[in-house]
Amino acid sequence: MTAPSSLLTDLPSDLDASSLPRHVAVIMDGNGRWAQQRQAPRVMGHRKGVDALKALLRCFKDWGIPALTAYAFSTENWGRPLEEVDFLMVLFERVLRAELKELIREDVRIRFVGDRTQLRPSLQSEIAGAMQATAHNQGVQFTVAINYGSREEIVRACRRIALEVQQGNLNPAEIDEKLFAQHLYTHDLEDPDLLIRTSGEQRLSNYLLWQMAYTEQYFTSTLWPDFDRAAFHKALLSYQERHRRFGRL
Ligand code: IPE
Ligand code: IPE
Ligand code: MG
Repeated sequence: MTAPSSLLTDLPSDLDASSLPRHVAVIMDGNGRWAQQRQAPRVMGHRKGVDALKALLRCFKDWGIPALTAYAFSTENWGRPLEEVDFLMVLFERVLRAELKELIREDVRIRFVGDRTQLRPSLQSEIAGAMQATAHNQGVQFTVAINYGSREEIVRACRRIALEVQQGNLNPAEIDEKLFAQHLYTHDLEDPDLLIRTSGEQRLSNYLLWQMAYTEQYFTSTLWPDFDRAAFHKALLSYQERHRRFGRL
């Protein structure tokens, strides 16, 4: 007799369904090292990394976690060798094209944060098409950070706010945290409850600096292509042991 398939997809019994994070941010790090450990070119790790991301997204649906935001390319990643940058840009475009139907079928809403104007036009139009085609989906809210950097995001918000003041549409006294956050790429997302970074690095690398003021952080030495359901389960167990105080007692 085979076990009912629901057993494979159910939330593990040692996790409390009532205190899961609502929004998880991930820094998908370690693709290059994963490949190098196998004497393979770094880009092989990026390919495998896509598979890990797809599996994680499915897990969010199965376990009822509403939002995932994944760091795919930072504003600093342009400094990598041209072949790797080109490979990544082509990979993003291909994956988007290949996976759009599945995203629609799975009721995923995909969005992007970062400066899209610097991406190649074909990728920009793939991104616009995917956002439009999934705009009304109610399932997992999946955000991909491409050409994203927190400092760029914050400076851009300042510039936009300054312009509104200059045009006489905004009084400086009205600028508060809420208004500022409305000018960030993430204006329609809640702040993350949990950050996961793989590969053993313990830094934020210019990711969601404003948004993560009170985010719980989880670091694991697992390389991103190996980050599977069991690894995510461990991260959630760690999250559920925390006592979030937000400055209170
Ligand atoms: C993360 O993996 C993916 C991107 C930054 C695009 P890396 O490519 O940074 O892999 P490592 O850190 O060099 O192993
Ligand atoms: C952060 O990883 C960016 C992404 C995962 C897209 P990096 O590998 O670029 O970060 P650093 O350079 O180690 O800080
Ligand atoms: Mg890295």
